[in-house]
Amino acid sequence: MSTEADISMEVLLNSDNPDKVLKNMQPFLNLMMCYECALMEIETKLKILNQEFALVHKRNPFESIKCRLKKPVSIVEKLKKKGVDITLDNIQNNLTDIAGVRVICSFPEDIYVLSELLAKQDDIKVINTKDYIRNPKPNGYRSLHLIVEVPIFLSNEKKIMNVEVQFRTIAMDFWASLDHKLKYKKDNLKHPEIIAQELKKCADMSAAMDYKMQEIRNMLE
Ligand code: GTP
Ligand code: MG
Repeated sequence: MSTEADISMEVLLNSDNPDKVLKNMQPFLNLMMCYECALMEIETKLKILNQEFALVHKRNPFESIKCRLKKPVSIVEKLKKKGVDITLDNIQNNLTDIAGVRVICSFPEDIYVLSELLAKQDDIKVINTKDYIRNPKPNGYRSLHLIVEVPIFLSNEKKIMNVEVQFRTIAMDFWASLDHKLKYKKDNLKHPEIIAQELKKCADMSAAMDYKMQEIRNMLE
């Protein structure tokens, strides 16, 4: 059965400005607020671990943390690509990356320490793991991706929200931003495959450097 929100979301299908339409919709805004709360929960959990580590082990497992909500226009695009109707239920059931947290660590080891500490908290459930560090993508992309469920507590309900958490080193993040540029510009380049090859070499060199620096860090400790 379709709800009022679902019917009004059909407006989006014929809209050339879904961003504007969605921003005026209360049920959609409520859902986005829930994802925002889930982001805050995850961010706080990670910051607490960082704080404790700084005190006990005299080091920070992560350098920085960035949170982002997927833009309405990207939500609509992704649902269309998946071939499902644009409804609030479909957003929650089909998309796991509405709320995204990116955790930038100095060393690869810290990624596993931190992600395991987060995963074992009793209100967190990991529903999917993609380890592109142990199994890098053919283009050289490295990161650890977790999809987690986290509860948020509102005035009269508890909701379980999905959050995508990406863990990577500073070097992996630097590489990914350059690769992102290649994705955007590919169509206007004469020899994108040559750039892709060079970028793959950079990925391997920077992975080697990550592990070398980690060895040095471990020798210093
Ligand atoms: P999306 O539809 O993009 O979310 O991909 P997916 O559902 O196959 O999930 P995956 O875990 O593989 O990738 C999710 C996110 O990781 C992407 O949205 C990017 O932020 C990042 N990512 C994955 N692959 C690459 C890559 O090759 N290069 C860069 N720069 N980022 C990547
Ligand atoms: Mg994504």
